[in-house]
Amino acid sequence: MSSLPSILSERIEAVAGADPELRPATKPQFGHFQSNVALRLAKQEGAKPRDVAQRIVGALNLDDLCEPPEIAGPGFINFRLRTDVLAHAVDQQLADPHAGIAWVDDPKTVVIDYSSPNVAKQMHVGHLRSTIIGDCFNRVLSAQGNRVLAQNHIGDWGRQFGMLIEQVTDEMLDLDTLDLPGAEALYRRANTHLNEDEAFAERARERVVKLQSGDPETRASWQRLIKISLAGFNRTYQRMNVLLTDEDVAGESAYNEMLGQVADDLEARGIAVQDGGALVVFVDGFDAPAIIRNSTGGYGYDATDVAAIRFRVNELGAERIIYVTDARQAHHFQLVFAVARMAGYLPDDVQAQHVGFGMVLGPGGTPIKTRDGGAVTLESLLDAAEEHASPEIALAAIKYADLSNSLHKDYVFDAERMTQTTGDTGPYLQYAHSRCAGILREAAARELTWSIVTVLDEPAEQELALWLTRFGETVQAVADELTPHKLCTYLFELATKFSTFYEKCPVLKSEGEVQTSRLALVAATKQVLATGLGLLGIVAPERM
Ligand code: ARG
Repeated sequence: MSSLPSILSERIEAVAGADPELRPATKPQFGHFQSNVALRLAKQEGAKPRDVAQRIVGALNLDDLCEPPEIAGPGFINFRLRTDVLAHAVDQQLADPHAGIAWVDDPKTVVIDYSSPNVAKQMHVGHLRSTIIGDCFNRVLSAQGNRVLAQNHIGDWGRQFGMLIEQVTDEMLDLDTLDLPGAEALYRRANTHLNEDEAFAERARERVVKLQSGDPETRASWQRLIKISLAGFNRTYQRMNVLLTDEDVAGESAYNEMLGQVADDLEARGIAVQDGGALVVFVDGFDAPAIIRNSTGGYGYDATDVAAIRFRVNELGAERIIYVTDARQAHHFQLVFAVARMAGYLPDDVQAQHVGFGMVLGPGGTPIKTRDGGAVTLESLLDAAEEHASPEIALAAIKYADLSNSLHKDYVFDAERMTQTTGDTGPYLQYAHSRCAGILREAAARELTWSIVTVLDEPAEQELALWLTRFGETVQAVADELTPHKLCTYLFELATKFSTFYEKCPVLKSEGEVQTSRLALVAATKQVLATGLGLLGIVAPERM
C-alpha cells in the first residue's frame, strides 16, 4: 500500500515532469507539504517561478486527495490533504492486522547468518550486536511475507578442540559437570597449558587429527562441549527474547563433508590454484588470496564460508543472503562472495550482503573491556542494564540503543542513559505505548466506544494521522536497505507527535464525535507503536 505522500508525489511528478521533492510544511498555515519544483523548473527554462507554479497548479487535478493547492512566496506550491482522505487512510491502517506493512509481491527466501558465537566461549558484545540486529532483520523481512531462514553459524570446529579435549583428559574432568562459563574457564586453562608445555601442545595436535578422523571418544567429548555451549547460548537467547532456536544452528562443522568436494571442484575448473602447498583462489582487487586448503591439508574459515554459500543457494534455495558480523570481517566476506561468484555458487540474481556493525564503547569512549582487559560478556551487559530498570525495560533499552544509530557506527554503552524513559530511548517508546493503553483502558472503564477516525480539525491531530500513514513505507525502506535506525527514528517521531497531540487535544475530556475520533487515533497510534516495537524485538507493555 502506497502512502498518501507517495501517491501525491507521483501525481504531481506526472504533471510537472520532475520529482516534486515534497517536504513537510514548516507551519500549519502552509498546509501539509511544500514543493519547490516550480523554482527548479523555472531556472532550467529561464521562466518566472510563479508562472511555472501557476502552470503546474492549473494542470493538476488532485481534488480527490487535496484542497486546492496554493502558490506561496517566490513560487512554492503548498498542498493540504483533505482531512477526510487522511482519516480514511488511518482507518484502513487501523483495520489492517499488519498495521499498514505491505506484503511483498515476490516473497524471497532470505538466509540471515547471525549471532554465530563460538563453542566453549561465552557470547561477547559483538555477539550481542549480531543477535539483536539479525533478530530485527528476521522480524522485518518475515513481516513482509518473505521466507526467512536464520542460520546460526556457530564456531564448532577447529584446532582449539584439540587442546580443549586434551585438557579434559588431563584433568580427568567430568564434562557433565560443566556449564558454559565453566567451559570457557577450561578454554583458558587449556590455552595457558598449550603455551607452556610443548608435550601438551603435541598431544593437542594429535587430538585434532583424532577429531578429524572421527575417533568415537574424541567425537563424544566434542559433542559434549557443543551441547554445553548451546545450552548456555539458549539461556541467553531466552533472556534476550530473540527468535533463534536449535533448528537454526548450522555451525561450521555442518560443512565439513562438503569441503573436499568444493576444493576439488574449484581446482578442477582452474578457479583455485596450488600456491606453496596450499590451494588458494586469487581474486582481482584483493591483496591476498582466499585460502581453500592450507599447506597442512586443513580447511579454514574461508573454505567453510564458500561451502556454506553453495549449500544455502543450492539446498536452502536462498535468494538473498545477509551476514551480520562486526565491520572487521568485511574483507573476509567480500573475498568469499567474490570466490563464490567466480565459481557460480552465488549466481548473479542472488544477493549477498555483509552488514558490518561498529563497536560497543565503554564510558571512556574506547572499546568496552572488563577490568582485566578481557572481552565483556553479553550477560554482564544485560546485568548492567538491569541495575537501572526491570528486565523488560533494560532489554528494550539495550536493543534500542543498538539499533537506533547507523549500524556501522560505534556507540557508547551507557546503561543509565539508555534506560531513561525520556529522550530517544527504547523505554520512552514503551512508555508512549503504555500511555495509549492507559487512555484506552480508562475509556473502556467508562464504557466509551470508538471505531474510526472521522474528525481531524486540529493541526496536531493531522500531524499524527499523517505520520501514522508513513509506517508502511518506513518498514519497506528498512527491509530494502537494512537500516533499522530508520524505524527507530520513525517510532521516536511518532511518540513525540503523539505527545504533542495529547497535550493539545484532550481525549477523555472531549465529547461526542471528537472524542470517538480521538480515541480511534490513540488506538491507531498504539497499534503502530506495538507493531514497530515488535519489529525491533521490543515488548510493548500495557502498563509501566
Ligand atoms: N563465529 C564468528 C565470530 O564469532 C562469526 C561467524 C559469522 N558467520 C559466518 N558465516 N562466518 O566472529
